[in-house]
Amino acid sequence: MTDSKILDVTPDVKWIGIRDYDIVTFDIVMETKYGTTYNSYFINAGKKAVIETTKATFWDTWLDKIERVADPSEIEYVILNHTEPDHSGNLENLLRLAPGATVVGSGNALRYLEDMVSIPFKSMKVKEGDTLDLGNKTLRFISAPNLHWPDTMYTWLEEDRVLFTCDSFGAHFCTEEMFDDLVPDYHDSFKYYFDVILKPYSKFMLKAIEKIRPLDISLIATGHGPILRSNWKKLVDLSEQYSREYLASSQPEDKNVLLAYVSAYGYTKQMAEHIAEGIREADNAIIVETADIETMPLGDVDSLLTRCNALLVGSPTINQNTLLPVYKLFALINPLRDKGKLAASFGSYGWSGEATGIIEETLKNLKLNVMEGGFSSKFYPHAGKIDELREFGKKFGKRMMATAEGV
Ligand code: FEO
Repeated sequence: MTDSKILDVTPDVKWIGIRDYDIVTFDIVMETKYGTTYNSYFINAGKKAVIETTKATFWDTWLDKIERVADPSEIEYVILNHTEPDHSGNLENLLRLAPGATVVGSGNALRYLEDMVSIPFKSMKVKEGDTLDLGNKTLRFISAPNLHWPDTMYTWLEEDRVLFTCDSFGAHFCTEEMFDDLVPDYHDSFKYYFDVILKPYSKFMLKAIEKIRPLDISLIATGHGPILRSNWKKLVDLSEQYSREYLASSQPEDKNVLLAYVSAYGYTKQMAEHIAEGIREADNAIIVETADIETMPLGDVDSLLTRCNALLVGSPTINQNTLLPVYKLFALINPLRDKGKLAASFGSYGWSGEATGIIEETLKNLKLNVMEGGFSSKFYPHAGKIDELREFGKKFGKRMMATAEGV
């Protein structure tokens, strides 16, 4: 679909973003059933500026929009609040037409761009409170790191009272209309976006919100989804609420172990139950959670991972491999958060039993503290195996308690 729309956000700020109705997944793992938008803005000031570029694949459409608002060679500044390629993907293309433009970003942003852009460019590193005079308008920069990369910041256009926040307060939601009061309810999309992109960085979100509270905001110009001219306060409040709820619930329990598994015929499930009994025998103070993750929403798996302080992963071996839900679980393990958690593997197999070894190696690579010698069981765990599984669980539970007590 050709996207020719340009919108007046204020008389001097134009939305020149791209609507991507067709995207199926974002960042490979994030389902985008409502599509997304790559919001880019043009500021028609004494010195012309662009805020955020767009994904590289939309160059022709974006260029058409730029040419309709300005001669590209007259663009003097390109401000990147965040350099993930959905926002920086067309920077190099633009710089080829605007070789005199200065790229403005945080120190991290400019460092990342050195490896993303293959041509020399002028740059301006900005930090908290720095301003940029556009002639008749002023930009002020607000440091807001880790939302959702270390490079992120917000840009405040003082005269128009517009706050540009890139990923923060955004959503993967694409409709014909772009203003929040004209689109259908998209709360599920907003929440899903928050959960996947921003929630892990909740403490940074709270710091950023504290900084923007004193601003007399007229409008928040996000990097994805609707432009917030009516409901920005509600979405900022919701982001604060979700961040606080997450931080309150995400402190790992002292003695919480998660047995996450998939099971084709119930054998690996039975193994999980026997191991769980053994763990409880080791110490009945241990909270044991078992979870069949085959169809569990990724957000729920992530919550379980966040709250546990020890992890067992179970999988049958199929075609000498483990299974897709287990690989998705691996993708949710965050070594910054989960490093050092005690971990082990188990699973049923028919002919060979590679899954436990694959799981064990992956958990090691993800910096967990692996109890080696994952438990493999040929087909179902028959009588003799049940005692061994309980012993395996008991051993895991004792090691977990010893680790918790610093023994
Ligand atoms: Fe929309 Fe983190 O990029």
